[in-house]
Amino acid sequence: MSNNAYVVLLAGLALVAACPALAEVDGAALYQQHCAKCHGDDGRADNLRGKMFFAQDLADADWQARTSDEQILAAIRNGARMMSGYAGKLSAEQQQALVQVVRELRQP
Ligand code: HEC
Repeated sequence: MSNNAYVVLLAGLALVAACPALAEVDGAALYQQHCAKCHGDDGRADNLRGKMFFAQDLADADWQARTSDEQILAAIRNGARMMSGYAGKLSAEQQQALVQVVRELRQP
């Protein structure tokens, strides 16, 4: 390995070590663990619990268009109707990662 490559590798390792919280956050896995049971794998909430609780269809393009990142974050933090909040259960980084996952559920 060239010296340069070695330096880059070390710098990369130092960076990952410096932000363990960031390195650990896997938004998709968090969504599967906490949200998919009501909102479904694809966000459509097309499952028993989703229907029972009238969960929001997160893939809906109209809803996505009229909803800000701040509103999504607020729903995750504080809950919405039959959905309880995750303020005490998920870190700020995890909540932020979930906002991103929710955005990626959008369908045309
Ligand atoms: C117990 C079932 C349940 C779980 C679990 C759940 N939700 Fe919800 N979610 C709901 C319901 C019910 C609503 C409210 C729908 C409404 O506004 O009528 C909702 C609404 C939302 C909204 C829309 C809020 C708005 O302002 O329109 C978002 C975003 C959301 N949920 C994301 C999530 C995420 C992310 C998770 C996982 C961390 C999650 N939900 C977990 C049932 C659930």
